[in-house]
Amino acid sequence: MLLPVGWGMFRAMARIFSGIQPSGELHIGNWLGAVQRWVELQRTHECLYCIVDLHAITGAGYEPSRLAERTREMAVGLLASGIDPDRVTLFVQSHVPAHSELMWLLNVVTPLGELERMTQFKDKSQELESIPAGLLNYPILMAADILLYRAEQVPVGDDQIQHLELAREIARRWNAQFSDGFFPEPQPIIGEARRIVGLDGDAKMSKSRGNTIGILDSPEEIWQKLRPARTDPARVKRTDPGTPEICNIYHLHRYFSPLDTVTLVAENCRGAKWGCLDCKRVLADNMARTLAPIRERAAELAATPRLVDEVLGDGAARARRLAGETLAGVRDHMGFYGHGD
Ligand code: TYM
Repeated sequence: MLLPVGWGMFRAMARIFSGIQPSGELHIGNWLGAVQRWVELQRTHECLYCIVDLHAITGAGYEPSRLAERTREMAVGLLASGIDPDRVTLFVQSHVPAHSELMWLLNVVTPLGELERMTQFKDKSQELESIPAGLLNYPILMAADILLYRAEQVPVGDDQIQHLELAREIARRWNAQFSDGFFPEPQPIIGEARRIVGLDGDAKMSKSRGNTIGILDSPEEIWQKLRPARTDPARVKRTDPGTPEICNIYHLHRYFSPLDTVTLVAENCRGAKWGCLDCKRVLADNMARTLAPIRERAAELAATPRLVDEVLGDGAARARRLAGETLAGVRDHMGFYGHGD
């Protein structure tokens, strides 16, 4: 199917954009919630995937001396997970300066009240004495990321839905003021793993909460992290029957264990035939087995940094070309001198 993209051009496949911060590791939360989905979508859509280093400098974990290394590690993790550079455009956000320029241009149509209302801004700013404007403006940069490529769809986890709603609002306002229909209103793609809970059993899995399992963790590290993980609080003794549906370990089995094992886990939990440690042991083994090929590929890629740089270089060159086309249209419609016909 051909989709109109403006200026009389047509696109064969719907375009997808998504981003991931290099501030944290690739853990089973963002891997299940986003990256696995990215890998599936690369077969059916035109995909742009971005390592968002400009976003990462707003976070508490930002260390200038580690940013470059973490960016490369994230690229390795994504490629090892199956992101195929022959099918997608994989690049680093700061390698395409148009992201920052479009963000500035979108500032003028973004309502301050909407930014202040964002849950993530409220949560993060609460912990700070002095709030940097970057934390507030973070969703405008996200909108710029997506709109720069006029992406129609955005695969994300639950925590980014509100930011995406704001991106749609920004697109609507810009279109209304400058050029009707120029930016598509990007729609979310949400998978089953929209909110993977961390090992503490109550918060979203995220590096900043220290409740993660990294996709490159060794089998021993996986076991050490799973062993103390929270389970159904009703199971104090091994003989106490449990309710698998309220246990995060059971939910993780659903992503890593074969269907018959998942059924067995539920039965053995309800009937108190297994203790929580037995259940975790099976999960640890299945998790380690699932992640082993990714660890292997990551080790190979880490040994060939030039290859990774080449992929990111090619990705940035393509992204710059696409971004340049959009930005030319934006400047033109906004009336800047020397940019129109
Ligand atoms: P980030 O880096 O926090 O997370 C990357 C993606 O992983 C999803 N995710 C999860 N999904 C399920 N369960 C979890 N525990 C979990 N943790 C993370 C996130 O929802 C996200 O889809 N601001 C964004 C990055 C970004 C972006 C964009 C995304 C920048 N520009 C444009 C989409 C479009 C972020 O910090 O994601």
